[in-house]
Amino acid sequence: MQKFLDFGFSLLKGENDFGTTISQGEKVDIPNCPVRLPENGFSPNDYQGIFSYATTFDLDFDPEKDVIQLVFDGAMVQVHCYLNGIDLGNKVSAYVEARFDITKAVKKSGNELLVILSSYEDPTVPPFGKALDYMTFAGIYRPVHVDVLPKTHLGNVRVFAHADGKLEVYPEILGGEGKENCRYLLKDGENILKTFSENVVHIENIVPWDLDNPKLYSLEVILDSPYGSDRKTFAVGFRDAIFKESGFYLNGKSMKLVGLNRHQTYPFVGPAMPDQAQEDDAKTLKDFGVQIVRTSHYPQSEAFLDACDRLGLLVVDEIPGWQYTGKDKPWRDNFLHFVTAMVDKEINHPSLVLYGIRIDEGQDDDELYTKANAICHEKDPYRQTTGVRNFKNSHMLEDVYAFNDFGGGLINRNKVKSARNKPYLVSEHNGHVFPTKITDNQQKRIDHAMNHLRVLDDMYGKEGISSAIGWCAFDYNTHADFGSGDEICYHGVFDIHRNPKPAAYAYKMQNSKEPFLYFARPLIPGDTDDALIKHVVLFTNCDYVLFYRGDSLIGRFEPDRKDYPNLPHPPIILDNFMGEMLLKEGLKKKDALKIGKCLSLAGSEGFRIKKTKVLPYIPVFLKNLLLGRLTISKIVDIFFKYMLVWGEKASVYRIEAYKDDKKVFTREMGSPSHFDFDVSCQKKVLHNEKTYDVSKIVIRYHDEFDMDTPYLTRTMALKCEGPISVIGPSSRPVKGGYCTFYVRSSKVDYQTPTKVTVEGFEKNVDIAFQVD
Ligand code: GAL
Repeated sequence: MQKFLDFGFSLLKGENDFGTTISQGEKVDIPNCPVRLPENGFSPNDYQGIFSYATTFDLDFDPEKDVIQLVFDGAMVQVHCYLNGIDLGNKVSAYVEARFDITKAVKKSGNELLVILSSYEDPTVPPFGKALDYMTFAGIYRPVHVDVLPKTHLGNVRVFAHADGKLEVYPEILGGEGKENCRYLLKDGENILKTFSENVVHIENIVPWDLDNPKLYSLEVILDSPYGSDRKTFAVGFRDAIFKESGFYLNGKSMKLVGLNRHQTYPFVGPAMPDQAQEDDAKTLKDFGVQIVRTSHYPQSEAFLDACDRLGLLVVDEIPGWQYTGKDKPWRDNFLHFVTAMVDKEINHPSLVLYGIRIDEGQDDDELYTKANAICHEKDPYRQTTGVRNFKNSHMLEDVYAFNDFGGGLINRNKVKSARNKPYLVSEHNGHVFPTKITDNQQKRIDHAMNHLRVLDDMYGKEGISSAIGWCAFDYNTHADFGSGDEICYHGVFDIHRNPKPAAYAYKMQNSKEPFLYFARPLIPGDTDDALIKHVVLFTNCDYVLFYRGDSLIGRFEPDRKDYPNLPHPPIILDNFMGEMLLKEGLKKKDALKIGKCLSLAGSEGFRIKKTKVLPYIPVFLKNLLLGRLTISKIVDIFFKYMLVWGEKASVYRIEAYKDDKKVFTREMGSPSHFDFDVSCQKKVLHNEKTYDVSKIVIRYHDEFDMDTPYLTRTMALKCEGPISVIGPSSRPVKGGYCTFYVRSSKVDYQTPTKVTVEGFEKNVDIAFQVD
């Protein structure tokens, strides 16, 4: 039995035993960030400190038969607990659970729990000790529960499920006499497929787990003893995952993996967000075509990994760290504790394909990493290990060499000396090389997206690069030595609120199952230097587009396979704004296309255009001048007639996108003059279960052509009625065309009408919620 304590802690700053009135202090629910923080422009000193949390609880248990444990799934950094005045000691949690045996201290009613939390960056605990490019925040930020277990109970259970239906289960039995055996039930939904008691069985006709069909079964492990039954249930995915020298294979099928790194922190509260928010991140990544995520640089919540299992998103996990490897025993002991705890926590996730057990970009340390590898391999003989380096020649103690390749494009695998003949992946690229804000100008945003595409093209094209995992998914709060001077690293392909920059669509277009089209660079000359009419860039998985000005066809445009020969879906560049329209000027079709292309190039690059780019077009101009079809003044007229996008109707362009020769989209593009916003609300029924629930409300501004509006300034406000409130400030500026809020439920034991009103300049939108 598990009892969650998450609702109704009392919080006081500093060390405080609450005296006789445990109810004093601020009332908070877990996950909790104990300080109010802005989105950016604050320092770790604002959240580092000692915080005291207290609560009371009753518990149903049998003192003759049960052992009782108090578990913190995640508290930053260390917890010191007192139960009913009894000192239970201090434990490091940070990114893994801290478990206290409270059997001797607990009562059936009126238990008083006091937790003294230290969120200081303790140099004996990885990732601390030196500089650190991410914030760790403070708080009890994952659930707290009391586990009531029979004296003979299950410890860690290791489940290995293979694509051929072989299923292995190895339970750890604690508090027994060594003679106990478990029973197992494998289920498909409610259907029992097999009951057994052997450690190894074969299951017939299983559907393997893969990215398109992440089929999960459930395995119940039951341990009976004179003290009662203990049960644990695991989601099981039958799959074989292996990185070889030639690449990655899932169930024997070779795959190139597109990936992103994820930090687990959110604005205002850091990592203190409940399960739904963790799941939202996994879903965002999956929706945008990501196939593998690295939990940089620490073990992340079970809710996130569970969602990866359900959605079919592969995971490389990682122990806490960042460049610094401590030399002192306490630091190294904590490191190995994290390796053990991470493997114990994550071993049964089918989505997990690699253990990351080296300090990110740390130096070689054979003693430490020999031990770390041994811990993993002993517990898990099937999953490979990796370690992330930013140098090419390193002692190779893991199974897979992971390299951060920030050079722009990717170097050949064989240039990374220690990776020769080894399984190899690129664990980071881009990032600090090209920080980009969602509000940056169009040139910067498109360059950012193209930089990611360049790497993906190399990954697909080069031999033995199994995966490229970009830095990074979401902008994140960081220490002052990094970031853009406001304590944010703008390295994400999404902003800190998880709103997409154009680079996010570079990922989406590779793997989207549905037809998809995004204007990565629309036609907005006023947003370019010298008001140039830059080529339009479309990110799409369609086969080709027909491009029209008004009703006149300009031409058919195909994906740019010349510059991106290896991408499944290269971008489509609209680099000719005249095309077939020049037939009206008396030119032959072939000549019209060339002349249109050259003049569009001139419009795109202006006076600074390189002569070499123009040279190939000289003959077609000369030929038509000699034939009298063109004169110099006619060329100038044509340029202004067809390139200028000012004016009403004529400047509206139309794009028809085709897949398998069927028209799947028609989109228009022109000078915007009307703006409005849409509101999407991720879910409207919030469940208070083990803790409060959250829902994401995304406001997206767009123009009349449904284009992004990255510079629009507006203020949005949320008004909440009923047991629901906003996480962070309830009134905020629109940024990058988006304004995103999380609302959370509060615990009430009566039904009450619950409503959120989104107040914007153009309109107000009511959303009816239900909290149960
Ligand atoms: C890497 C590091 C990441 C992040 C990134 C910024 O060197 O592993 O944590 O700092 O640089 O681009």
